[in-house]
Amino acid sequence: MLTQTLPLRHVSEFAADVREGLTKSGQRELPSKYLYDEVGSALFEAICVLPEYGLTRADARLLEKHAREIVRRLPSPVHVAELGSGSGKKTRWILEALSRRQKTYYFPIEISPSALAACEKELGQIDLVSIVGHEQPYLEGLRTVADRRADGDHLLVLFLGSTIGNFDRDAGEEFLRSVRNILQRGDALLLGTDLEKSADVQMLAYDDPAGVTAAFNMNLLARINRELRGDFDLACFRHEARWNATERRMEMHLRSTCRQRVEIPAAGLRVSLDEEETIWTESSHKYRIREAAEMGERTGFRCEGQWVDEEWPFAQNLLIAE
Ligand code: AVJ
Repeated sequence: MLTQTLPLRHVSEFAADVREGLTKSGQRELPSKYLYDEVGSALFEAICVLPEYGLTRADARLLEKHAREIVRRLPSPVHVAELGSGSGKKTRWILEALSRRQKTYYFPIEISPSALAACEKELGQIDLVSIVGHEQPYLEGLRTVADRRADGDHLLVLFLGSTIGNFDRDAGEEFLRSVRNILQRGDALLLGTDLEKSADVQMLAYDDPAGVTAAFNMNLLARINRELRGDFDLACFRHEARWNATERRMEMHLRSTCRQRVEIPAAGLRVSLDEEETIWTESSHKYRIREAAEMGERTGFRCEGQWVDEEWPFAQNLLIAE
């Protein structure tokens, strides 16, 4: 449990966040946004095609099936800003439906340069769609896009894939409020929420037998080794998925399988981990069917429509800024 911090002059944000998370007393943590370097983004794409992880397919199915109806309920003209575009594959349906009625700008906002490049490649060729990527944090990017819009243009913000689930419930709601404050009345937010299902189905989705999710989780330590000259011995950690029934969320942890010392020079850090101690790397909150509408209503939106997948409980929620 002993930690030692050394004085450091220049620290990257990554180094500072690693230092903060690993020096917490009690449960150690690493922020989940750092899972997505180039390797992590590729592993996440592999997770999305695992039979046990139905989330992405449900999200995409709903968009494919209902894009025209969703677009019919939007103000016009409208341009699209996407928070965390990833590869951008499922966004195609919305952009194609929109481009049938108008020339459309698409602004993917993404901190991962490799994901942003993949998305530009995937969606760069749609007729009447112009793509302008922003390599920025979500709210910063959205503010840039909103500030530059022409009078009378509306925005559709996409926050798909249940990425909101990475926030604690209160922080998620606060995030929606911040999005609302950047928007104008009549602008839209399409919010994807993964719905609560049986614990064993959820466990398998985050602990697949092929070990892809384990590799995705473990890569965070490998990334710290690569970028911050850390000396994590990955053989001394085990991937762990947990269903937290009180908080209604899946959690990913990395469990130390022995007592060990780790040095991370670029974060000015020496950490001792106890045997069985865990580092908490991600939360994926699961929602009740009405929850997104309720969160929207508390944060300045009204719910204009909701679509639910029948195969894998997941909801698309169309929220309109009031
Ligand atoms: C992309 C954040 C929605 O939480 O389900 C997949 C990431 N983590 N498997 C999720 C993830 C483990 C995913 N999100």
